[in-house]
Amino acid sequence: MTAPWWRAGVIYQIYPRSFQDTDGDGIGDLKGIARRLDYLAGLGIDAIWISPIYPSPMADFGYDVADYCGVDPRFGTLADFDELLDQVHARGLKLLLDFVPNHSSDQHPWFVESRASRLNPKRDWYLWRDPAPDGGPPNNWISDFGGSAWEWDEATGQYYYHAFLKQQPDLNWRNPAVQAAMHEVMRFWFDRGVDGFRIDVLWHMIKAADFPDNPPNPDYRPGMGEMHRVLQLHSADQPEIHAIAAGMRALADGYGARGQDHVAFGRNRPNAKNMIDSKSLEHCSRKKPVPIFSRNALGERLLIGEIYLPLDRLMDYYGGAQAGVQLPFNFQLIDAPWQARALATLIANYEAALPPGGWPNWVLGNHDRQRIASKRGEAQARIAAMLLLTLRGTPTLYYGDELGLSDVPIPPAQLQDPRELREPGLGLGREPVRTPMPWDAGAHAGFSTVSPWLPLNADWPMRNVAGMAEEPASILTLYRQLLALRRAHPALAIGDFSLLDSEGDVLAYERRYEAQALIVALNLGGSEQRLTLPPWASGHRPILSTRGEAPRVESHVLRLRADEGVILAA
Ligand code: GLC
Ligand code: MG
Repeated sequence: MTAPWWRAGVIYQIYPRSFQDTDGDGIGDLKGIARRLDYLAGLGIDAIWISPIYPSPMADFGYDVADYCGVDPRFGTLADFDELLDQVHARGLKLLLDFVPNHSSDQHPWFVESRASRLNPKRDWYLWRDPAPDGGPPNNWISDFGGSAWEWDEATGQYYYHAFLKQQPDLNWRNPAVQAAMHEVMRFWFDRGVDGFRIDVLWHMIKAADFPDNPPNPDYRPGMGEMHRVLQLHSADQPEIHAIAAGMRALADGYGARGQDHVAFGRNRPNAKNMIDSKSLEHCSRKKPVPIFSRNALGERLLIGEIYLPLDRLMDYYGGAQAGVQLPFNFQLIDAPWQARALATLIANYEAALPPGGWPNWVLGNHDRQRIASKRGEAQARIAAMLLLTLRGTPTLYYGDELGLSDVPIPPAQLQDPRELREPGLGLGREPVRTPMPWDAGAHAGFSTVSPWLPLNADWPMRNVAGMAEEPASILTLYRQLLALRRAHPALAIGDFSLLDSEGDVLAYERRYEAQALIVALNLGGSEQRLTLPPWASGHRPILSTRGEAPRVESHVLRLRADEGVILAA
C-alpha cells in the first residue's frame, strides 16, 4: 500500500470541552485527550481532529479566537499541547487542529486595534463600511446566527461585518497582510509538528468586493432560521477563494515528505515580513521548531475544508491548475433521505463529480449537527457505521457516535449555545450533540470528578466505553470490527468502488483492490430483504454482520434481516 496516510486513514473528531476533564473544572482538557489516546489507538482510528483550543472569550465556544498561537487555560498550556502531540505521534497517530481564519474574536488584538480608529494600520484587516444612505447597515446580509451581519461602531462611525456573532468580526482576506499573518499562524503550528488543519467555514472567507445585496430565498419559511431569508450569493463562495485555498495548500505542501524542503520554502517566502509589523505576531514566534528530519518523517500535511455547498460548487475546492484542499468535507450523508435508491444515486453522483485525482470523503455527524443515532434510530445507526467505514474515501467519525450516543436534551437553565439563545425554540441549538463522553459507570461517567459543563446522556450507566467494550454485540464492538477490517483489507481502505444491482431497501456495492473484492450489503429498512449476488461472487461468504451471527448465502441469494448490514469476502 502506497497511499498517503490521509487517504487510507480514518479521522476522529474530538470536541475538547467534552472528551475528558483532568483538572476538575467539569470541562475537558488537553491532558484529558492525552489520557484517552490508548482508547483511540485501540479503537483503530488514524488521526484526531480537535475543535478549537485557542484562547477565547468562548462567545462561540472557541470559534471566536483571541490568539491563534496559544492554548486557552481551560484546555491547558502550550507545553501540554506539545506533550499531547508527542504522545499522539508516539502511537503512530496524526493530529489535526481546527483553523478559524474567516473571523477572529472581537477581543483579538488585531480587532481591538482595527476598531480603535479609522486611521489605524489594522483598520483594513477587517470589513468596515459606511452606513447606507438611510443610516442603516450597508446591505441586507444576514448573520448565520440571525440578525443583520453588520454591527454599528459608534466611536468610528462605521459598520463592521460578521458572518456569525458580532463577537466574531470577519477578517479581510483580500488584504495581503492578513494573508501573510495567517500563513505565519499555520507555520507556527506546522513547525510544532501538527499534521494538518480542518479549516472552519472555508467557503465564507471571501465576499463580493462591492458588497451587493443578497437575493431573497424563495423557499424561505419561518422556523428555518433567519439566515435562510436570503441566498448567500454574494457573501460566500466567491471565485477568489480558490487562490486563497491554493496558497494555504502550497504552504502545507512545503512541509512533509512530498513537498519541497521546508527551509528552502521559508527562504522563498514572498515578503511576508514586510507586509506585517512583527509586533502583531510576536506571540507566534516559533518557540519549539521541530528538527527537519522529523518534520519530513511526519509525511504529508492535510487540509480539510468545512464547506456546505451543492455538489458542483463543492468540487471546485479540490482546486484546478493549483491544488486546493485535499478533502472538501462531504456532508451529504447527514441530510440524505435514508433510502437505498436515493443513497445509491447520491453516492454515484458524488463519485462521478470528483475531479481527476480527487479523493472522496464522508461524514455522518459533527459538533453542529444532529447525532446520527437520533436522526436514524439505534438500529440504523449500525448500518450508518458500516456505510461510513466501507464507502470509498476518508471517513470522519464524531466522538461518541461509536457508542450510539444520541442528542441529549439540555435543561433551559443550562443552555449556553448562542445559536440556540439567539433564535430560541427552533431546534437550532448544538449543545445536545456536544455532551460529555461517558467513559465508565463511575461518578460522572469517568468524564470528570465534578458535575460536567453539560449533562451526560441519561443512559450513561449502560452506554459507556468500559461497559460496551466488553459486550460482543455493542455498537462500539461493531465500530472496532469495522475499523479492524478496513486496516486488514486494502480493498476497503483504498480500493475501487462500484454499485451492485439490488432491489427494495438494499444498498449493495463492491470494493476491489488487485485480486481482492469485497461486497457490502445494507438493509436500510425494517423488513427482511434478499440480495442476489453477482455470478463472480458465488464463493463469497459473510465476514461481518451488524446483527452479530452472520446470515447464510443459499444458491447465490443473501437473506438480510431487518436493519442488517453484511460484509462478504471470498
Ligand atoms: C463552523 C463551526 C461552528 C461555528 C461556526 C463559526 O461552522 O463548525 O461550530 O459556530 O463555524 O465559527
Ligand atoms: Mg478541565
